[in-house]
Amino acid sequence: MSEKKTFIRSVGGYLPAQVMTNDDLSKIVDTSDEWIQQRTGIKQRHIAAEGENTSDLAAAAGRKALENAGIDIAEIDLIIVATTTPDMTFPATAAIVQQKLGMHHGLAFDIQAVCSGFVYAIGTADSMLKNGLARRALVIGAETASRLLDWTDRTTCVLFGDGAGAVVVELGKPGEERGVLATALRSDGQHWNKLYTDGGPSSTKSMGHIRMEGREVFKHAVGMITDVVYKVLDDTGHTIADLDWFVPHQANRRIIDGAGQKLGLPPEKVVVTVDRHANTSAASVPLALAAAVADGRIKRGDLVMIEAMGGGFTWGASLIRW
Ligand code: ACO
Repeated sequence: MSEKKTFIRSVGGYLPAQVMTNDDLSKIVDTSDEWIQQRTGIKQRHIAAEGENTSDLAAAAGRKALENAGIDIAEIDLIIVATTTPDMTFPATAAIVQQKLGMHHGLAFDIQAVCSGFVYAIGTADSMLKNGLARRALVIGAETASRLLDWTDRTTCVLFGDGAGAVVVELGKPGEERGVLATALRSDGQHWNKLYTDGGPSSTKSMGHIRMEGREVFKHAVGMITDVVYKVLDDTGHTIADLDWFVPHQANRRIIDGAGQKLGLPPEKVVVTVDRHANTSAASVPLALAAAVADGRIKRGDLVMIEAMGGGFTWGASLIRW
């Protein structure tokens, strides 16, 4: 393994102002607060305002991460935006974020790995920085998932929300203890049609809506998550008992609890924010990190495991010394 190590310097989150509760949803589709909470743990989600795009959410989270790092955009030379809901088919949302943040040097691009996008983006930024392709990265997960929903389909529209989270990642000095210790990324395309949009530029010339075989997703999620978690623990010589915090993709409380139980994690070490903002896809892990750093749970020196699983299927985990 390379001697070089990147570390997460800061984190920031942004949620749109408008809140939609389960009761609000029950006026649109045949559902109830009780059903949604019992099956998913979700109480509310945030919905982007008319004209508020993924790039706006991403830029807001990015600004917060820069502010928390105490640095200016001039000191960033790589922007990666993980998103499934780009402003446009092209250019990359990252390019629009680059313009909104006033950065005219370096490079910016998007990653599409659906809910695993942020973990994929961390792995990509880590490799690029170690290989000298950039020096300091703004890694963002941002989604306006509400725009992809079929608001007549109660099996999907209750699950998702909008938001963005961002981290500043940079190369550490030699011997620095904190850092991204290992990342494992996986996909298996045989499952693509279990969670997808029924449209796209090449197939239907439209964007489509989210379609999902919920039980199939549920069935695979826990096993895939635990596989990559054990892989990064093995790669670094750590065990579950060494973890201070487990920060999972916030899809569904039952998937989070299932993974936590299978891994033997005490519930108090698991960061849960899905009740507040539902499944924000690529934004969910950085939003959960932002919440746990802001309230003082995650502290410098803590051992933090992030993980996600989503459409493709894709899945991944990263072990980080904070
Ligand atoms: N409100 C009320 N009733 C509902 C709703 C709703 N919003 N949605 C479905 N139902 C009904 C169904 O119609 C069905 O009724 P029936 O028995 O009369 O046919 C009943 O509830 C049970 O439906 P199931 O789909 O079997 O419900 P299940 O217990 O499997 O829960 C859920 C559904 C929550 C989607 C579950 O399968 C799940 O958690 N799957 C994981 C999917 C997920 O989290 N996806 C997010 C994206 S993937 C990711 O990020 C990892």
